[in-house]
Amino acid sequence: MSARLNIVPFISVDHMMKLVLAIGVDRVLTDLAAYIEEDFRRWDSFDKTPRVASHSEAGVIELMPTSDGRLYGFKYVNGHPRNTRQGLQTVTAFGVLADVGSGYPMLLTEMTILTALRTAATSALAAQYLAPKGARTMAIIGNGAQAEFQALAFKALLGVDRLRLFDIDASASRKCLRNLAGLGFDITVCASGQEAVEGADIITTVTADKQNATILTDNMVGTGIHINAVGGDCPGKTELHRDILLRSDIFAEYTPQTRIEGEIQQLPPDHPVTELWQVITGQAPGRSSASQVTLFDSVGFAIEDFSALRYIRDKLPATGFFEELDLLADPDEPRDLFGMLLRAKAAAAA
Ligand SMILES: NC(=O)c1ccc[n+]([C@@H]2O[C@H](COP(=O)([O-])OP(=O)(O)OC[C@H]3O[C@@H](n4cnc5c(N)ncnc54)[C@H](O)[C@@H]3O)[C@@H](O)[C@H]2O)c1
Repeated sequence: MSARLNIVPFISVDHMMKLVLAIGVDRVLTDLAAYIEEDFRRWDSFDKTPRVASHSEAGVIELMPTSDGRLYGFKYVNGHPRNTRQGLQTVTAFGVLADVGSGYPMLLTEMTILTALRTAATSALAAQYLAPKGARTMAIIGNGAQAEFQALAFKALLGVDRLRLFDIDASASRKCLRNLAGLGFDITVCASGQEAVEGADIITTVTADKQNATILTDNMVGTGIHINAVGGDCPGKTELHRDILLRSDIFAEYTPQTRIEGEIQQLPPDHPVTELWQVITGQAPGRSSASQVTLFDSVGFAIEDFSALRYIRDKLPATGFFEELDLLADPDEPRDLFGMLLRAKAAAAA
């Protein structure tokens, strides 16, 4: 990598895909889960704030910053559930990792693919602590951009190899079936959410809709199930009927953000919730009985992106999948910024 601090490594979508394929998707998912777990173990060392959201009728644009005092990271991410009708992604993202000491960016990267990977890695990490022992069957309701990543993470980290897919758009399920063919899954495409949850140990809901939807009703969730609720992640955008929440043990990433954005926005602000880092560090129990319904109320938190950015930084020197971006003005004399402009003018005129 360049020793010149004004040159910032940039990881394009093309380079991110090459990096992920060179390492292997399963390996990246397990590595990311390990980085996230490591950062969740040192929860107290991070600045934490609910993400800064700008809502519109069409969707949301969010900034997700955090720092551990040495590194600073942020992600720009959008969520526009109707985008796919125009051929656009529901979620796109990019992010920056910076050095706290100088304030200089250390890398700029695409994060659309990285977000799908880190979201799936976080879900599977949570499920390692919360899903019933020996879980092998997962329902995935919502078979869009995130779905295959979720499936692969649960296979890599928990050994889940039977999938029951449902989407209101059958072409999404067919796409998912096609993409996962030959990857070691036994897959059933289902005609309804009700059919999808039959026999499932884990239910992943990962739909996109800008409303309080009811993807799961109370009668669809039997005892002992783990629910990985990924799609409800904005005020007024939830997936589960409130009654399910009332009989679940609820686990969140960062409660102040989840109270605004997660399924628990449907509950009073003092409803008990356990944060995942507390389970990971052994300060709170995860799953404690076979009959318990556990709910990971995922919304996506900045530390997960920070971990993902750290991971990518660590992989750059060996893989070389980046280009050098002339991002920062770098006059020879730091205070002579205007002089640099004048010299450029003179050079252009010569
Ligand atoms: N928690 C997190 O960290 C996190 C991270 C990324 C994305 N998300 C959220 O996950 C959701 C899915 O993201 P995506 O990129 O896969 O979106 P996407 O638009 O690619 O896919 C969503 C799918 O849900 C389906 N769907 C919508 N309503 C449904 C219903 N009632 N029943 C069944 N299927 C339904 C759609 O047909 C579509 O195929 C979004 O809401 C997004 O905001 C959360």
